[in-house]
Amino acid sequence: MRLPAVVLLIAALLAGCGEVEDTRPGQPVKQRQVAFKAIVKAFEPMGVMLRKGNYDADKFLAMAEALHARRDAPWSHFGPDTNYPPSKATADVWQQPEAFTKDKEAFIAATDALLAAAQSKDKGQVEKTYDTVHDACKTCHKQFKER
Ligand code: HEC
Repeated sequence: MRLPAVVLLIAALLAGCGEVEDTRPGQPVKQRQVAFKAIVKAFEPMGVMLRKGNYDADKFLAMAEALHARRDAPWSHFGPDTNYPPSKATADVWQQPEAFTKDKEAFIAATDALLAAAQSKDKGQVEKTYDTVHDACKTCHKQFKER
């Protein structure tokens, strides 16, 4: 009787810290969260550069290429029956797969347009397509990610 109580206590403590380990084989939840973190890491500095008004076409292009290279990584880790802690995905990912796919495809198209704009080095196009990518993140998170 003693050991399970200790195990439960530890589990509760970990849950309280928001540090539930993904213990399933292949760690699909962890893998997709790591992939999204890599995406935001590439995406965030672009917004900082544009907001500060110091657009540098070459640096921006490198960031757009990094985002493009990472944009495909999360999706294969949303397999069936992978909605468990520590996931912050909503049930809609699995209940409305067509809507999820639609938002994903809009995001893919938006990152294509952003890369093309970065290659053109046209600041106006870069700002416009950056906003479209940002909107694509937000649109999907609204329905498919818990805050
Ligand atoms: C098609 C849907 C979709 C798009 C597009 C999308 N995300 Fe997400 N994102 C999700 C879902 C679902 C999760 C929750 C994953 C989980 O916890 O299982 C998530 C999680 C995250 C996380 C948290 C990762 C963690 O460690 O918990 C970050 C950061 C993130 N997304 C950033 C972005 C950024 C930045 C963009 C756009 C450049 C973006 N996402 C585009 C669906 C999307």
